Amino acid sequence: MDSYTNLASYYDMLISDDDAQELYLEFTRKYMYGSDVLELGCGSGILADKLYTNNPGLKIVATDLSKDMINVASENYGTDNIVFEVMDMCENKYHNEFDSVLCYCDSLNYVLGIENIRKVFEGAYDALKDNGVFIFDAHSTTRLDEFKEGYDESFIFDELEYSWHISTENNYIKQILRVWDDSIVPTYFFEEHHLQEIYEPSQLIDLLKEIGFTVDVYTDFNYHGIKDGEKQFYICKKENI
Ligand SMILES: C[S@@+](CC[C@H](N)C(=O)[O-])C[C@H]1O[C@@H](n2cnc3c(N)ncnc32)[C@H](O)[C@@H]1O
Repeated sequence: MDSYTNLASYYDMLISDDDAQELYLEFTRKYMYGSDVLELGCGSGILADKLYTNNPGLKIVATDLSKDMINVASENYGTDNIVFEVMDMCENKYHNEFDSVLCYCDSLNYVLGIENIRKVFEGAYDALKDNGVFIFDAHSTTRLDEFKEGYDESFIFDELEYSWHISTENNYIKQILRVWDDSIVPTYFFEEHHLQEIYEPSQLIDLLKEIGFTVDVYTDFNYHGIKDGEKQFYICKKENI
């Protein structure tokens, strides 16, 4: 029941949100820096493709833990300038190679435990050249209240049925996704369980500063600072010292 395995080929159809991707694109274009970009938790590769289409001068390495997501992304969007590769964002693989490191759509919350978050932040810091920027978003703590009573959603698209149950336990958001695909005979069914940890912004900011970043935070793309909302967006600069 690993996450983002069977779901990979259904991700764009069922999960990815075009309007949200446009907001991510706009936000990234505003705050990113330079032309060498590393994306962590790139999923099906839509943002990498949109960034490149908007600016064909970019060179993007887009990475994800799931080899199924990377296969889908490479098939859809792989070019000489967008290279997709399997990589755990906790790995410290790159050194002084990128101008911008991006990690979006609460991918960071899949990393469990603050010591593993530290590894992600240290890896991003090392991957950046001087003056580079690490931009990521993370669920706000108010999401824990939002899903406290449990949340259910289900859809039917033609021959596809999809249900989504979200609940919380302590600092965790748990999701159960079920898909029935009637276009395959007999009906193809799978279930995935996803677990995300929610971190206090102050905890993330302290860690980022300890590692050497300067940090600026927005809530839900536009509000400068931290307030109730879905997500905080962190713009972290590796200043030339
Ligand atoms: C909610 S999806 C977001 C995908 C993409 N960023 C988007 O905007 O559509 C979360 C992604 O994070 C990936 N992921 C989870 N844990 C990871 C890790 N430790 N390292 C790299 N990717 C990870 C998952 O495989 C999944 O593709």
